[in-house]
Amino acid sequence: MRTQVAIVGAGPAGLVLSHLLDRLGIECVVLEARDREYVQGRVRAGVLEQGTVDVLRHLGLADRLERDGIPHHGLELRFDGVGHRIPLTDLTGRSIWIYGQQQVVEDLVAARLETGGPLLFDVSDVRVHDVDTGAPRVEFRDADGEPRVLYADLVAGCDGFHGVCRESIPDGVLRTYLRDYPFGWLGILAEVPPSTEELIYCRHRRGFALHSLRSPALSRLYLQVDPDEDIGDWPDERIWGELHARFATEGWSLAEGPIVDKGVTPMRSFVTEPMRYGRLFLAGDAAHIVPPTGAKGLNLAVADVVVLADALAAWYRDGNAGKLDAYSELCLRRVWRVQQFSWWMTSMLHVMPDHDEFGERVQRAELAYVAGSLAASTVLAENYVGLPLPVEPP
Ligand code: APR
Ligand code: PHB
Repeated sequence: MRTQVAIVGAGPAGLVLSHLLDRLGIECVVLEARDREYVQGRVRAGVLEQGTVDVLRHLGLADRLERDGIPHHGLELRFDGVGHRIPLTDLTGRSIWIYGQQQVVEDLVAARLETGGPLLFDVSDVRVHDVDTGAPRVEFRDADGEPRVLYADLVAGCDGFHGVCRESIPDGVLRTYLRDYPFGWLGILAEVPPSTEELIYCRHRRGFALHSLRSPALSRLYLQVDPDEDIGDWPDERIWGELHARFATEGWSLAEGPIVDKGVTPMRSFVTEPMRYGRLFLAGDAAHIVPPTGAKGLNLAVADVVVLADALAAWYRDGNAGKLDAYSELCLRRVWRVQQFSWWMTSMLHVMPDHDEFGERVQRAELAYVAGSLAASTVLAENYVGLPLPVEPP
């Protein structure tokens, strides 16, 4: 097989890139290790920045999002048992949309298969070769186990944190930055109308809690827990008991319903630099991970591939590699901004196992400042709704 751009991974990064390239008339083939059901079934975050929504609209892929997505104009910070609203839209003129990453992926997969764009699920033994030459190739086995070779001009490594693309870069080329947090999130999906219209980020001395939602009938909730917490130790009653305790506030109560999904995720911050080696370009979780407190993972992945598609457009149009050469640096500027924001939200809202009383009081003073100061709440709002994309989607 031969194509212009080989895309490894059909998460949000790989799928959005494939649609951007289609629009530009650049051929690509997407290779995905898992099957379609698995890729569409992974429950992940559900907050889209306005810039991400604009990219999906630009691609003509926002029909269901316009119908089922829920625009939000504010969020609540709750601490010391009291809620404070941050009016995101009043402060920034921008909004966020509540729409599950699962739905985004479903929409993108369906549209890609409809247009006949090659998207191969269930591939295995993916190996990236010769990306430091002018003729890279990707070797893999297809769903039937047959060995195949995909020749391409360039390879986009969109295969997530555990993918093979980053690993295929020789030792000594990349510099990585990592922070593991001493806690994780226990997340549940519950069939109960959300007890709130806007997201609640809650700090309690028992730990952080988040009330999010997926639809008028489906709530998504999280609890700070130990990173290696065994989900088996968390029967539903224990989860609800802990959620009630942390969210407790005058005149408000949390509705319970059947829990249909639960799991524990570790939290980490990770960046690899540069996001390129020869003709291999890393994008999304393959290059960086943020803790979920700012809901930035998917949005950052979309920003990367917008920059990459714009650079590829220039390269194929007039052979100008300038934008490809600038890809990593341009992306990393936004990556580090978002890293700082996600780290800050995480540090401000979680109970730190190593905190003494001083640390705790400083944290609460910061929350009070963010809730009470126009300048400080604008910092939160501007980052939360998302800074403008580095380039217009091509
Ligand atoms: N070959 C082919 N595909 C692979 C391989 C491989 N060797 N390894 C992993 N993959 C696939 C995974 O199965 C997954 O579908 O690559 C995809 C990577 O998708 P994501 O992990 O969703 O990463 P990304 O597209 O960068 O999206 C980032 O999604 O993962 C969340 O929290 C993350 O919100 C963030 C956003
Ligand atoms: C979610 O809805 O899953 C969600 C929302 C906000 C976050 C993280 C996750 O910060």
